[in-house]
Formats: sequence, C-alpha cells, structure tokens
Amino acid sequence: MSPIQLTRTLPADATDAALRADVLHGLARHPKTLPPKWFYDARGSELFEEITRLPEYYPTRAEREILVARASGIAAASGAQTLVELGSGSSEKTRYLLDALPALHSYVPVDVSESALRGAAETLLAERPDLSIHALIADFTDGLTLPDTPGPRLVAFLGGTIGNLLPDERAVFLKSVRSLLSPGDALLLGTDLVKDEETLVAAYDDAAGVTAAFNKNVLTVVDRELGADFDPADFDHVALWDPKREWIEMRLRARRALTVKIPELDLVVPFTAGEELRTEISAKFRKEGIRGELASAGLTLTQWWTDSADRFAVSLATAV
Ligand code: AVJ
Repeated sequence: MSPIQLTRTLPADATDAALRADVLHGLARHPKTLPPKWFYDARGSELFEEITRLPEYYPTRAEREILVARASGIAAASGAQTLVELGSGSSEKTRYLLDALPALHSYVPVDVSESALRGAAETLLAERPDLSIHALIADFTDGLTLPDTPGPRLVAFLGGTIGNLLPDERAVFLKSVRSLLSPGDALLLGTDLVKDEETLVAAYDDAAGVTAAFNKNVLTVVDRELGADFDPADFDHVALWDPKREWIEMRLRARRALTVKIPELDLVVPFTAGEELRTEISAKFRKEGIRGELASAGLTLTQWWTDSADRFAVSLATAV
C-alpha cells in the first residue's frame, strides 16, 4: 500500500490570522461583511451536510445526478492520470469520478481542513491501494503548487462553490487554475444555474431553519475564536435574490440596536436596529456567462452537462 503524502502549504496559524483580518476588516466597514469560509467549523460542516439533504436544497442532488450520469464521459474526455480536487472535503462526490477512472495514477485532494483530508484519504486508500494520494493542506484561492504527478490532469471544483466568490475573485481564481494546467489538462466545474426566485430563495431559507442555524453559526465561530459576545438570538437569518447580479445573498439582520465586544481584536462593533451583516453570496450562472468567464481566464468550454431539470451544470474546460 502506498503511503498517503500530506503537504502543508498553510502555516499552522494561518487560519487564525486570516480570521482576525477578515473580522477586523469586515466588521469595521459598511455594509458589514464576513466571508463564507468561516461557516465551516465542525458544527458548521455538520449543518452544511444537513442542508444538502433538505428537500428545498436541490444543488447537491442535481450535481450528483450529473456526475452519476456523466462520470464515464468525463473520464473519457479528460483521459486523466491525475485527479486534483479543490475543496475536497469528505471527497464524497469524487467517488463517482474515481470509479470511472480505474487506471488513475494520482489523486490530489486540496482542502484547508487537515482532518477532512486525512479521513477521506485513508478511506480511499483502503479501497484503491494502488492509487497515489497526495493531499494538500492549502487555501485554493491563494495560488497552488501541484505535486509532480503524471498528466493529463483533471482539476475538479464541484459543489457550486465558485459561486461563493465575487466576480473579481472568480476572475483571479480561474486565472490561477489556468496557470496550473498544461496542454491536455482540463477543469471540471460545478455551477448552480439561474432559475425562478421562489426556488432559489427556498433553497437558502428552508422551512426547518437549518440554513438559518448554519448562517448564525458564523457568529458562534467568532465568539469562540476571538472571544466575541455575539448572541445569535439577536439576529435574524435573511436570504434574498439579487436579480441584477444574479446571486443569492445571505445576511444576518440585527433585531435591535446592540454592541458586540471582540476583546481579542480590541474592537467594539455597533449595530443599528435592522442593520445587516452580509455573510455569503451564492452566484447563479448561465451557460454564456460561464463560457465568457472561462474565456477571460484563457480557458475554452468544451462540454456542458446539466441535470434533467436544468437546475445545475457541470462544465469541462481546457487551456486555450
Ligand atoms: C458551499 C456553494 C455549496 O452556496 O449553495 C448552502 C453553501 N450556503 N446553503 C451554496 C450554502 C447556504 C453552498 N456551497
């Protein structure tokens, strides 16, 4: 059995420093914002898993439908020897691709969570003892150096997570992915699609209140990590569709005027009654928009697959 290689490109305290910087900058500005990556502590990751099983939250099921139906097509089109997965998490969706790639040489999961990487890599290695697994502890928005494994490489970025980046952040991200690709390599990208407002808003404001709990969990993270005194009960969960920018916004709205102390940052943050803190955007896409964003980064859209209800798309793109 080949050993799992684990490479850390993030300093052990990088997360802490990044959280401090994000909270300091995000809460001092107007409107207030916090980046969505801070949702995902152990509780937040659990809540996200619960979201993926909600009747209203269709993206996970729609993407799975595409991967199940198209895995062999994706495998054939890419001819991949190395599969790189950005934000691999539990690597659950990867299974469909891995099963379609029986001759794959290397799997390179990339995630900020060392525990998620270790768990996923160990499970996988038990099933595929000949697969070379090189896990990277890294923030995929920071620019990556990939291990020297055989090509062609297929770089997968699934789940619609690209929608959590702002348009200018997406442009930077896609260019950095482009810089990882050699001729013959490809990007596999999962994107949620524009659809009616009712369906979209329900997916981010479910009846059981799981998404509300997920949204408020970011306050618990800031309380625990930075000694803040946010009370999640002081905030309402808000999900709204911005038809001009074609994205869902999640916000936390202060139910009354209040002040939050963040001792570790020497910061006192006032909220007016009704003031909103933006915690996430989740952009929804159209085929021509994706084609254009890929082209701007030097990538050509070569395949476009959707689920049977046209809710979600998986695209394949190659370096121009
Ligand atoms: C991380 C992109 C899959 O934007 O839909 C789910 C996160 N936020 N419900 C998304 C999320 C609220 C999610 N993804």
